Amino acid sequence: MKTSVNAFDYASEILNGIHKGLLLTTRVGNEVNTMTIGWGHIGFEWKKPIFVAYVRDSRYTTELLAKSGEFTVNIPHGSVDPRILSVCGTKSGRDTDKIKELGLTLEDPLTIQTPGIRELPLTLECKVLATFRQEPETLPADIQAQYYPNNQPGDGQTHVAYYGEIVNAYLITE
Ligand SMILES: Cc1cc2nc3c(=O)[nH]c(=O)nc-3n(C[C@H](O)[C@H](O)[C@H](O)COP(=O)(O)O)c2cc1C
Repeated sequence: MKTSVNAFDYASEILNGIHKGLLLTTRVGNEVNTMTIGWGHIGFEWKKPIFVAYVRDSRYTTELLAKSGEFTVNIPHGSVDPRILSVCGTKSGRDTDKIKELGLTLEDPLTIQTPGIRELPLTLECKVLATFRQEPETLPADIQAQYYPNNQPGDGQTHVAYYGEIVNAYLITE
């Protein structure tokens, strides 16, 4: 069962949870992949509720997002098995079916085509409205050194901000 919620009523749960990790899921055809994200936020732009995720070019998720134009964000509500965030944050969908390996339960979406993940029951369905490529060379030197040490075009390090309009938000319950 899904219980509809106002995502902003859960802002503190989302923003506090993101330090430990959330899941960002993509689907292209029959393929579903999920990755851990630790950077992101919710807010408003263009009078629309938005979730912004920052995904490096090198992630397999980047390829899937380019094809699907949408994603699902799943947030823990209560406890979560830390192995889920660890595996989804270290293995790539290029060579591992993380959903299968972890035995995650996919939940049919309501508005988009990308499923949610029952084990992290607070769900945001998002359609990509805009992408903004970050410019590492404009950042302070310490941040460049820590996150973009090579900073060459095509090195896969750059983050792109994906602005997803939150088109549905709900809690997955029994
Ligand atoms: C706690 C945690 C937070 C992470 N946050 C991000 C993030 O915000 N953006 C990102 O691009 N990668 C992040 N990563 C790394 C990706 O989750 C990791 O590279 C993953 O294997 C990518 O999966 P994919 O290749 O299937 O897309 C994080 C990893 C962990 C463990």
